[in-house]
Amino acid sequence: MHPASGIGVGNGGIFGKEVDMSVLTLRGFEIHKDFLTSEAQSAVLEAVRSVAVAAPVFSPMTPYGKPMSVRMTSAGKYGWFSDRTGYRYVSHHPGGAKWPAIPAPILDIWNAVAGVDRAPDCCLINFYGEGARMGMHQDKDEANFSWPVVSVSLGDDGLFRIGNTERGGKTESIWLTSGDVVVMGGDARLTHHGVDKIRFGSSRLLPKGGRINLTLRVVD
Ligand code: SIN
Ligand code: FE2
Repeated sequence: MHPASGIGVGNGGIFGKEVDMSVLTLRGFEIHKDFLTSEAQSAVLEAVRSVAVAAPVFSPMTPYGKPMSVRMTSAGKYGWFSDRTGYRYVSHHPGGAKWPAIPAPILDIWNAVAGVDRAPDCCLINFYGEGARMGMHQDKDEANFSWPVVSVSLGDDGLFRIGNTERGGKTESIWLTSGDVVVMGGDARLTHHGVDKIRFGSSRLLPKGGRINLTLRVVD
């Protein structure tokens, strides 16, 4: 069983492998292909659904006045938010309630791959429906870039593009599939990244299709 897994059953615990043999590094991002077994993916999905009941997904407005194509919600001490005023972390859902706690099956993933002894204080949940995408950006609304960002993909395949610390320049892309986990840290912490498109309906994890991406962050 994976050392970080308290709830594992059977071969390899909740994660795909006892020793993760399939970590590849692309431009400093550590990509753990198939990190989550299908049972673990279902447990994480159930946890995401419980968050979305307490904190319904919404479409943030960009500072430029266009709604984002990705719908979002968050768990943890902070949630990520955007409107005309800009991108920032906020302590409450736009509906007024505090964000729900980050569920244990999601924290288990952080504990297994982040390599730091501090818990994340935000789990941003992004939902990509048909045609949704996310432009190239840096994750830089946090106070301290020495903490990594950990990303978890569920559902449909997403074409993830990785650029450079500076804007522009050459990029490389990789299809992220359900159960993949990416650690964006170290020298790559401020590397630009985005999602060009999803293959809608490519996974059966979400009955109505779509892709879910979780990003765990230390905010303070
Ligand atoms: C993000 O950069 O916030 C999302 C990345 C992804 O959806 O894979
Ligand atoms: Fe990001």
